Parts: sequence; structure tokens; C-alpha cells
Amino acid sequence: MIGRRQFLRTGLAGAGAVLATKALSPLGGAQSGGTEARIEILLDEPLGVISPNIYGHFVENLSGVVYDGVWVGPNSKVPNVDGIRKELIDEMRKINPAVVRFPGGCFADSYDWRDGVGPTNKRPKRTNFWAGGENSAAPASHRYDPNEFGTNEFAHFCKLIGAEPYLAANLRSLPAEEFYRWVEYCNSPADSTTLAALRADAGFKEPFNVRYWGVGNEAWGCGGNFTAQEYAVEFRRFTTWVPRFGRDVSFIGSGPNVDNWAWTRGFFEEIVKKGRGELRSIYGWALHHYAWNLSRGKTEDWNQGKGDALQFDAVDWYELLREGDRMEGLINGHWQIMGEEDPQHSVKLVVDEWGPWYRPGSEATPFDQLEQMPTLRDAVFSGMTLDIFNRHPEKVAMAACAQLINCLNSLYLAHEDRFVVTPVGHVFALYASHQGGQSLRTIFSAPSIEYNRDGKAATFWGLKGSASLRDKNLTLTVVNPDVRQPIEAEIRVRSAEFRSGSATTLTHSDIHAHNTFEHRDVITPQTKNLEIKGRTLTYTFPAASVTKLALPLS
Ligand code: AHR
Repeated sequence: MIGRRQFLRTGLAGAGAVLATKALSPLGGAQSGGTEARIEILLDEPLGVISPNIYGHFVENLSGVVYDGVWVGPNSKVPNVDGIRKELIDEMRKINPAVVRFPGGCFADSYDWRDGVGPTNKRPKRTNFWAGGENSAAPASHRYDPNEFGTNEFAHFCKLIGAEPYLAANLRSLPAEEFYRWVEYCNSPADSTTLAALRADAGFKEPFNVRYWGVGNEAWGCGGNFTAQEYAVEFRRFTTWVPRFGRDVSFIGSGPNVDNWAWTRGFFEEIVKKGRGELRSIYGWALHHYAWNLSRGKTEDWNQGKGDALQFDAVDWYELLREGDRMEGLINGHWQIMGEEDPQHSVKLVVDEWGPWYRPGSEATPFDQLEQMPTLRDAVFSGMTLDIFNRHPEKVAMAACAQLINCLNSLYLAHEDRFVVTPVGHVFALYASHQGGQSLRTIFSAPSIEYNRDGKAATFWGLKGSASLRDKNLTLTVVNPDVRQPIEAEIRVRSAEFRSGSATTLTHSDIHAHNTFEHRDVITPQTKNLEIKGRTLTYTFPAASVTKLALPLS
């Protein structure tokens, strides 16, 4: 990263741009004239196709996520489609949700899929993995799983929103046989097996054709507390035979927490002890990274280190982004280690849990465990993260934001008949046009933000994003993380010309801005048309913003 001063000396001067002197305010930012930054999109340097599955979601049976969030039941006064919240379906259809992961998270390794199939009134009630953390005011369904929302309902939900299901199997507390029976229940053809008949009895004669299967979750922790070597042995055992029914079944291994390089190395070294052919049975390696430690280096304690979702200052804002920005190094680092045993890189990364994680206190529905209020800060964080995935299309095959509704980095909040799209939900809508596009190498040159971090000088990058091309439509998404200053950038392509363009921006004058059940449109995307000619465009990215430029090329 270049510092603001170094940039001023060497950055744009060589390119002939005119720079005004910058007067730094105490928290960074500058008063300026002239173009401060440059974005160069290299149309002839494709990086790979952005998998639509990078734009995936996570629905865990955790507190208000399923019961109240997704599932209201067919007899509810809340508008629903076969028990599934209608407003959620309508909103999700707008964002092309490629894939949805269910039923956990940690919940997955205590879940018996058989409890959630068959006639609803015969399904057992079970203690939810998360019961211990539930508030006494929470509905019973959050503590004791009524199993009304099981495999059929989840597959139906996916079909309604146009997404592929991704099921996480129980490796800690069920035998391997139950894993392949679940696959059989989901995928065996109509009229073929006893389990296909059970599925048909519920109204689902045709197979669900579930392709993506997680083999456990966080096996280093709640998913069995294994060593990497022990988990590799379990992984081999669970995946050695699973019925295919003539279609692809893709297994996703429980990968590392953040920078646990030893977990990745240990697993890959062990799995190939029976030959590199074993790698063919692994589609993806799941990385989890939550940005939770906002203590500015003071503690590593999981509870003490967390910050507040709503009460924060500018330094906390950058702190969260710094934590989230680690994602790029995690992707590169684990990828390199995977390559030690998998030089062809047949196994891809699946970042199936990501997002900020704050301490309790900002819940829209006070008794919802792990619910927090997403603000503009989380929108900027989410845009930054999706841009990182877009920049590594050859490495990241899939991702899932944790979680879809009423939990952590929610796209939506809902309670009874109330529903709202959060700023994070709006970011997913903005970025949807990247899906399936060809990612392009793009050079962002911008002065770093300098600020005072508890008496010490700190910096954060000034402008970053990603670009992709589909047909002749260029999508450029850009994050300006500076809490105070807009930044003007010259945007260039070389071997084509801009025909026209529009800019859609998500921002607000208050960095704490968020949408609530009462005030649903405090922060919404604003679109304007751009006047463009030729190969260059100058655009000013507002402070604290996420912007999408839609730029058809000639
Ligand atoms: O998303 C909440 C929890 O975080 C998940 O259940 C678990 O996998 C992770 O630790």
C-alpha cells in the first residue's frame, strides 16, 4: 500500500496528472482540486469468469433465521408461499441468489435430516444447538426445533428464489450412512427408492438434484473438535461412496478458521497420503472469516474484542474494514498452501461464512440471538469483500454471506409482518451484474487515507473495487472507505470506448445510517445517468460509499 505522501510524490505525477496539495484533517481526508485517483480497466487482461455462486447465502437454523425470518408457516397471517415469507422471496428474486447453504453452521452437526422430512405433524421437536444462548423472551421454536422447515421446505424455498441448494451434512454426530441416505432422499429419481417415495409423499416426486454437499462444518471446533489429520480421515470415509444418480455431486471440506494455515496444510498433506487422486473427490475447501475484533490490538478475547454495531467512531469504521480486508491475504495464503499438494489447483476455495460480528445489543427484534443492525459501514464492508472475491475468480468458486436474515451481516430483517432490506441487501442488488462476467484486471491508484489510531499514525487504502465484462457491458464497482472525503477518479479503458453509462451509489451523510422496520428507506441506492465520451470518464465517488458504474462499451 502506498502512503498518501508517497503517492503524491510518485503515483500520478509520472502519468502526467495534475495534483493539488492536500491538507489533511485530523481523521484523514483532504481538501483538493484536480483528479486525485485513477482507475484503469485492462480489457485485454481477463482473470476468469466470476462464479455466480460467489453471490451465495447462508440460512442456519439459528434463532430467528428460519423461524420468523424465512418460515412463517402456511397458516400465518404474514403473506407467504407455502409457509415461506413472500416478501423475502420477492426481494431475493431481484438479486439472483445463486446458492443457499443450510442448515448450518454449527447447527448442522447436531441435525438429523430425518427429523425434518415426512408429515409435518409427525416430525419430532428437538433441542436446537443454539438453545443455550436463547433469550427467555424468544419463541419456543428458537430453542426447540419444531422441524417444520426441513429438506423439502428448504429445497422448495431455493426453487422459488431460483437458487441452488447447498446442504451441510452432520459429520460429528451421525454416521456416514446417514450422509449418503440424505443424498439418496434428495437425488434418487422418481419411483426409484424408498426414500424417493417418502419425498414423493410430501409432494416432491422429482428429485431435488442437490449438487453441493458440505462434509461437516468447522470440524476444528463445533463440528467435532478434530485435528486436521483426523478430519481428513473422516472426510475420506464420508465421501468414499455416495450415490450419484448420473449427476455431479460436489463435496466441500470444512476448511480453516481465518489464518489457521496449519489446518489447511494438515488436511491436504493427510488427504494425499492415499495419492493425489483423492483430491478429485474435493470440490471446495471452506474458509470462514468473521471481522469481530475491533479492540485495536488490545485483546484477542472473543467477547471483549467485539465492537458495537451502531455506536462507533471513524477509527472503529476503519478497524472493521481492516479486519475484513484480511480476506484477500487469507484467500492468497490458503490458496498457496493448497497448491503445495494440489499444484493443478483442482480444489477451489469456498468462503461459506463471512461478515462482521458485533456484540449483542442492536437487534431489531430484541430476543433474536446473533442478530445485529447492519449500517452503511457493513455495506462498505460487504462491497469490499465481494470485490475481493471478484478479483480472484480462479480461486474462489463459491461464498456465502453470514447470514441471510435476522443474523449477523443480514441482507434482510424480519419479525412477524415487518420486513426491511438492509444496506447489505442493497449491496447484493448492486453487485448482481458481476455474476458470470469475465473479471478484468483493474488498477486502482489512489492516495491512502491517513488517520490517527490511538495516538499512532495509521493508513487505509483510498479506493478499490472490481470490474467485469459480460457481452459488451462493463460493470465497475468501487468502494470509497474514506469517512470524510469524496474522491475524484479518472476511469479509463484502452481498447474500446464508453457508449453511455449510469452510476448507482449507496451512501449517506451519517456513517451509522441504517434501515429499520419503521424507517425502511433511510439508505437506498440512488442512480444517475452519466455523460460520457470516448475512453475516459471522470467520476467523484462520495465519502463512505459503494458505487456501481454500468458502462456499455462500443
Ligand atoms: O454463523 C454463526 C456461526 O458461526 C456458525 O454456526 C458457525 O459455523 C460459525 O462459527
